[in-house]
Amino acid sequence: MTSPGELRIGHLKFTIDLCDMLKATLLKAAHAGGQVILDYFDGSFEISSKSSVNDLVTAADKASETAIIAVIRETFPDHYILSEEAGVLDTASTTRWIIDPIDGTVNFANGVPICAVSIGVEVNGVMELGVVYNPVMKEFFFAEKGQGATLNDKPIHVSVKDDLNRSFLVTGFPYHWEDMPNDPMVVFGRFIKAGVPVRRLGSAAIDLCWVACGRFDGFYEHSLNAWDSAAGYLMVQEAGGQVTDFEGHPYSPYQPKILATNGKIHQALLKMINGEE
Ligand code: IPD
Ligand code: CA
Ligand code: CA
Repeated sequence: MTSPGELRIGHLKFTIDLCDMLKATLLKAAHAGGQVILDYFDGSFEISSKSSVNDLVTAADKASETAIIAVIRETFPDHYILSEEAGVLDTASTTRWIIDPIDGTVNFANGVPICAVSIGVEVNGVMELGVVYNPVMKEFFFAEKGQGATLNDKPIHVSVKDDLNRSFLVTGFPYHWEDMPNDPMVVFGRFIKAGVPVRRLGSAAIDLCWVACGRFDGFYEHSLNAWDSAAGYLMVQEAGGQVTDFEGHPYSPYQPKILATNGKIHQALLKMINGEE
């Protein structure tokens, strides 16, 4: 990420290195999406269902996505884009923008302020940059590979708790129920029966960021898409945490299962999820 390029902001033109260009474009795109969320939040707008009656998309999801993609396209007209509502666009480039224009759409549609723009930037198969921006709560999370993670420009770190029984966890549930290994209700039941507090916020991107900044000690979910986790998993890693699938393998956002923790409770959580405890 070192060759120079041209960044345009309005009538201004800057020659900066590619890494800086990606970063500047990412920040600008996230702000553009966040502004759309603010404009629509708590107002009235069109809501429709997708794969099931409660899997929603609103006019704001589409407007946020349009705004984000317009910013990216201004500087990088040929980059690969994978975005929740638009799907895959322009596949030639090895730089991928992975976009969730609103993560936490059901919250957003009901005026609950736990919703965010989530954008990850992957270069040659490595997640290099991530932003999760909740404009309603004024929380802007940013991570850069090897450089740490920040919340509103201040460094963040995962928690230090090392006892699963004293941990504070968060999870999410799929819109579609089907037989799957580690049935989500069975796993949830194990934690509840053990007296471990588990929350369900309704935004995987925010769940991950709240692990990254130490509010939660761990997060797991059975069935995510790449746009839900691309930015958030980098946030947890860069804040000093650990992210794997349910077998403890290094995490890939292109498979559905995620366990993200402060690292200290990771093995214990893996055992609980797999019914080995
Ligand atoms: C959803 C949220 C939710 C998670 C679902 C996701 P959406 O994304 O991240 O927390 O449990 O699996 O689909 O629909 O709000 O973008
Ligand atoms: Ca999502
Ligand atoms: Ca979404």
